[in-house]
Amino acid sequence: MKLFKNLYKSVGIDLGTTNFLVYLRGRGIVVDEPTLVAINNRTNQILAIGEEAKKMLDRTPSHVTLVKPLINGVISDFEMTQEIIRHFLRKLGGSSVFSRYQTAAVSIPTNLTEVERKSVEDAVVSAGVSKVLLVEEPIAAAIGTRLPIEDPSANMIVDIGGGTSEISIISVGGAVISKSLQTAGQKFNDDISRFIKNEYKLLIGEPTAEALKINVGSALPVEEKLEMNVRGRDVATGLPKEVVVRNPQVRTALQKSLKNISDSIKVILEDSPPELVGDVLEKGIYLSGGGSLLREIDRYLAREIQVETRVVDDPLTCVIRGLGIIIEDIPRYETILSNQERPKPINL
Ligand SMILES: Nc1ncnc2c1ncn2[C@@H]1O[C@H](COP(=O)(O)OP(=O)(O)OP(=O)(O)O)[C@@H](O)[C@H]1O
Ligand SMILES: [Mg+2]
Repeated sequence: MKLFKNLYKSVGIDLGTTNFLVYLRGRGIVVDEPTLVAINNRTNQILAIGEEAKKMLDRTPSHVTLVKPLINGVISDFEMTQEIIRHFLRKLGGSSVFSRYQTAAVSIPTNLTEVERKSVEDAVVSAGVSKVLLVEEPIAAAIGTRLPIEDPSANMIVDIGGGTSEISIISVGGAVISKSLQTAGQKFNDDISRFIKNEYKLLIGEPTAEALKINVGSALPVEEKLEMNVRGRDVATGLPKEVVVRNPQVRTALQKSLKNISDSIKVILEDSPPELVGDVLEKGIYLSGGGSLLREIDRYLAREIQVETRVVDDPLTCVIRGLGIIIEDIPRYETILSNQERPKPINL
């Protein structure tokens, strides 16, 4: 039986808008790289995938294009998504006949259409996987945080990723209510770029906006003096220019998006049955995903929503750890996950 288990590999795959992670059964997290492909736009050849492609981000020669094959959690470039999955699974599997994978548990946003769900499944199957188990991201995050998801008592989890924020109330193994917002890490970066352009008449690239968010940003005022020298191109002259950007500016840039996330959580709580809301009030809200690493976002949401809010341990790997737990005990989770009803989407 053990031999059988070793021959047929199973994996968890967190196919995120920003980060691609793989958990190999019996081993743990073996891939954690950006969801990026660098292609030569003259020949259409793939030059690099993941971390290697990101290295090209700073100084991309004109014939290199960087492709982000997922937009807001949804596959927008099927071929490139397939290439990423194939690349990493092949690297793990070697070239033996046993390089096929038995099962893959793959995380997906809660609001995918049947066609979109099928396209994730197809991309994974074409990379050499026999069976695909699709797991909604908040469920994977809840399992990764070891929340008691099978209990009849409800838990609220908000996963703020790169492309989407998934707000869900989970009970008895399924997402009872959920909402997927396109306001997440990438939108934060766009907000910062736009603000810097309007306030300083300076054009900056996405890596700079992201560095500002991570190094200087916060959701509420902070005691530390956070600031960063930012280099970009002057809107009017087109010449290089440098300015100092401080925490209050980045905070202002992010306010609208943060408000949008907190308002959406409020609407979900207002629309939920009172017994579920009672459970959430008692246990608080759990934040996962890379966006929850923004300084003071937990205190901001707690203040806005008036519910205790905490960030889970290691929020960037919470989903893949959940998929890992599933893949280590497939029979158990297959039953739990197949019993789950499709959540009712809420239209705001
Ligand atoms: N310290 C930090 N402060 C603020 N944001 C951060 C920090 N570290 C990472 N992030 C942001 O987290 C986001 C990536 O998070 P995550 O890996 O959870 O997303 P994803 O799973 O790829 O996307 P999605 O789930 O939306 O498809 C990026 O936008 C990144 O800028
Ligand atoms: Mg994610």
